[in-house]
Amino acid sequence: MSNQTVDNHSPRDSGERPLTSEEIRLASEELRGKEPWEVLQWGAERFGKSMVLACSFGYEDVALVHMLHRVAPETDIFYLDTDLLFPETYETRDRLAKALDKSFIRVRPEYSLEEQARLWGGELWKRDPNACCGIRKVSPLRRFLKDYSAWCTGIRREQSPTRAHTEVVEWDHQFGLLKLNPLAYWSTGEVRAYIREHGIPYNPMHDRHYPSIGCVPCTRQVRPGEDARAGRWSGMAKTECGLHPSGEF
Ligand code: ADX
Ligand code: SF4
Repeated sequence: MSNQTVDNHSPRDSGERPLTSEEIRLASEELRGKEPWEVLQWGAERFGKSMVLACSFGYEDVALVHMLHRVAPETDIFYLDTDLLFPETYETRDRLAKALDKSFIRVRPEYSLEEQARLWGGELWKRDPNACCGIRKVSPLRRFLKDYSAWCTGIRREQSPTRAHTEVVEWDHQFGLLKLNPLAYWSTGEVRAYIREHGIPYNPMHDRHYPSIGCVPCTRQVRPGEDARAGRWSGMAKTECGLHPSGEF
């Protein structure tokens, strides 16, 4: 498929009954020692078209897109377009789409930036970033995931204390579906090596001290010695945008 984004998608049902908590625990234990693409393959075999991959076009996600392309190329992949992503992020999307002949489902907020400014005031991210993330990321994601039984993400234990207990297979209490985190136990070095080895297009901002990339107003470069997520919501008491729990497990 050409380098396109798609606004619509069809709801799907795998026909599978949900896994019990014991089955989730066992699957997680079994898959912990497997390669990330084996985790994706397990999910694709079990859930088929009712599994989806969340892609922000950061390091982890371009690696996962490539792995998924190898083991289950028909699987849907989406990105949350907040209308505030970096130009480099959109360019990475287009380069990846071209390299792998893929299309990505574009998930949009209910409100444009102009409508948001009219209803909640301008630059909401400065005054209430939780509300802004709620409108531009969490609500669209909740609506979108209703049509799926499992979603895959690029979160890793090493990324932050809030992610240190991430498992390869989890029940997502917030969105009510299974969550696969195939890279949970991978290091930054392993992700980079995979990208290098396969020549996968990635966001060039990673080479300019942006280890973690989100929306323009809420992302800055990190300084030497700072942790990888220090550049997100810098100066605010916020570390997660609400897509992933903040370690309350
Ligand atoms: S965030 O929650 O602070 O934004 P981060 O940027 O570390 O998270 O990304 C973690 C994972 O969340 C990504 O690997 C991806 O699976 C998902 N994710 C984050 N942002 C997006 C986005 N804009 N679109 C789709 N998935 C995303
Ligand atoms: Fe708004 Fe910032 Fe959240 Fe993006 S990361 S949705 S700009 S608060």
